Amino acid sequence: MAELRFSNLSKQFEGSARPALAAVDASIASGEFIALLGPSGCGKTTLLRLTAGFEKPSAGRISLGGEVMADETHFVPAEAREIGIVFQSYALWPHKTVAQNVSFPLEVRRVSRAERDRRVAEALALTGLRDFAARMPAQLSGGQRQRVALARCLVFEPRAMLLDEPLANLDLALRSSMQEVFRAFHRRIGATMLYVTHDQGEALALADRIAVMESGRIRQFAAPEVLYREPADCFVAGFVGDGAVIPVRATGESMPDGTIIEVLGQRHAVRARCAAPSHVSIRPENVVIRDSGPLRGRVVGQTYLGGRFRLQVELGGETLVAYATRRARLGEALGLSIEDAWAFHDPESETLMARALAHA
Ligand SMILES: Nc1ncnc2c1ncn2[C@@H]1O[C@H](COP(=O)(O)OP(=O)(O)OP(=O)(O)O)[C@@H](O)[C@H]1O
Ligand SMILES: [Mg+2]
Repeated sequence: MAELRFSNLSKQFEGSARPALAAVDASIASGEFIALLGPSGCGKTTLLRLTAGFEKPSAGRISLGGEVMADETHFVPAEAREIGIVFQSYALWPHKTVAQNVSFPLEVRRVSRAERDRRVAEALALTGLRDFAARMPAQLSGGQRQRVALARCLVFEPRAMLLDEPLANLDLALRSSMQEVFRAFHRRIGATMLYVTHDQGEALALADRIAVMESGRIRQFAAPEVLYREPADCFVAGFVGDGAVIPVRATGESMPDGTIIEVLGQRHAVRARCAAPSHVSIRPENVVIRDSGPLRGRVVGQTYLGGRFRLQVELGGETLVAYATRRARLGEALGLSIEDAWAFHDPESETLMARALAHA
């Protein structure tokens, strides 16, 4: 399975004011499971369609295993890229059986009958469809159809697999069991996977690394725990995971692995990689409820999550999120301290704020 590389990749659709993709740079290692995560319209499907060869880039380059798939002078057509694609709508042939659907990519590639039978049997076994080989698509559930689409894709041993919200049409229980199928499938095959979702739980659960996209750009490309613990900017901090993102004042005082900031009227030690952060991401587990804590907040909202309560605590015009083991009263005053939060510098957000202030 091949390394996939995007260099300065842009796509501007005709008649559209903003580019769907703006100078995307990313490198995906062979066998990596990558999730593309971001709000509707941020360019996820466009990036998949360019990779598949269904669209031409306006600028930049896509290469697979060191071979150029598309740039200003080259364009390898979709059918020659040996990339597998699974969409949200399963796109199965309605008049072919499950086995015939799965066999089709091999027929197109003129694989011999005996080899075809062997590989179809293997793909059906891998996706748990052995007993469904003779069924028609209409006789299958949504999850089973999606597994046929997956089997049809893996049967020709693609160089990379692209999945565009493959579980979006399935109910919650089926979605989590299908996540298990994808994970097991990836472990067995070791395919390079590019998996589009706007479900962050799915992305965090499945991916080796997640590319968080916004307005045609990749905001941060990192392992799930890094995105959560060390978001690069306000967008990522707010989009991935729970908690508050608050502007801070840097003091310039540094500590090992961090710095001192002023926020909510107090000085706090925070983790940081820059000397002068502009914002802090305070996750629920960074808010410790303790009578002796330096901060005082008021409970303004509460949700039971099973096993714990999610509290919204208001102080100094900001709302923090905290976890509690017991039910709180609305309006109750709590002592809090902030521990192990992450501060970062987001110049763009500062510019936006400065602009907003200038217009106020
Ligand atoms: N064929 C097209 N012509 C013009 N504009 C397009 C075309 N395809 C996509 N776009 C625009 O490009 C942007 C990115 O679209 P894209 O489908 O990649 O978003 P997405 O991240 O997949 O969103 P969603 O989560 O809703 O599927 C959007 O603004 C969309 O309107
Ligand atoms: Mg899409």
